[in-house]
Amino acid sequence: MSESMSIVEFGRTHQAFRERWANTDHDLCRHSMSFDLHNILRQEFFASYLYMLEQIPLVKLYAMTCASVKGEKQFYHRAQNFYKDVPASEEGMMGDFVELSELDLESSRQFLKKCVGPGKAGTRRALDCGCGIGRVSKGVLFPVFQTLEMLDMMENFILHAHECYLGDCADRVESYYVYNLQDFTPPPKRYDVVWMQWVACHLTDKDLMEFLRRAQAGLRPSGVIVLKDNMARQGCRLDPVDSSVIRHLDIMRSIIETAGLTILEVQKQEGFPESIMPVWMISMR
Ligand SMILES: C[S@@+](CC[C@H](N)C(=O)[O-])C[C@H]1O[C@@H](n2cnc3c(N)ncnc32)[C@H](O)[C@@H]1O
Repeated sequence: MSESMSIVEFGRTHQAFRERWANTDHDLCRHSMSFDLHNILRQEFFASYLYMLEQIPLVKLYAMTCASVKGEKQFYHRAQNFYKDVPASEEGMMGDFVELSELDLESSRQFLKKCVGPGKAGTRRALDCGCGIGRVSKGVLFPVFQTLEMLDMMENFILHAHECYLGDCADRVESYYVYNLQDFTPPPKRYDVVWMQWVACHLTDKDLMEFLRRAQAGLRPSGVIVLKDNMARQGCRLDPVDSSVIRHLDIMRSIIETAGLTILEVQKQEGFPESIMPVWMISMR
């Protein structure tokens, strides 16, 4: 099937679903579980729901990312619980693949080189999102930027970064944010680079898209957002252990573009074993 045909088909399917949803809203199951379910599906999975519908049972993803208990999303609650037991160390940040850390950092440094410089992003200030103990800040960002700001939901990681791991570099941290990324609004026009490594996977589609939009508003002129994460070989995969969603690169692209950002560069992390999930770097603004 040609690409234009498949877009037409996709459009028709999308329209059919929209009409069906509207009908369901008004006439069917208004007070039932399925009414709640379809509302949440529509809100949370707008970027990838049709794709996933064809690939895997949608309800599985719903249960993992959108179920709420007493107003708290279980997807985020589980991640909090998971990271409580993760040691504040490079081993903890790398999830038992610490031997890949240096290769990861070196590839990130090379990728960052392409983003900054004359006519590109400046080197005044970067934000490290989901910084953990500051592995990326120390190995990639501090050598390039005058100052950093660092954000993580786990206070003990940030404390370890400040008191121990970053050493003298800690003097160049302007602010630490102990914050959930999905609740954070970057100050406007503040950062040359917003770095998000292995944290986008911990946000639902909707929260990720909204954060990217807010992060875009937080960029200085010519600033960029860099997202580095595991990407599924097919569709979406949920890891119920650390509560993360691993998305296919196409789904990630779709979320980024729906957020209104332009993708500048996409590059695969080379040198990682075939047995682990592929890792990709994406720069955008
Ligand atoms: C796998 S670690 C990666 C840390 C660091 N980016 C690195 O590459 O070394 C994921 C980090 O994301 C943080 N994190 C997970 N979900 C988060 C959220 N919703 N908001 C903020 N931080 C989050 C965790 O606390 C953890 O420090």
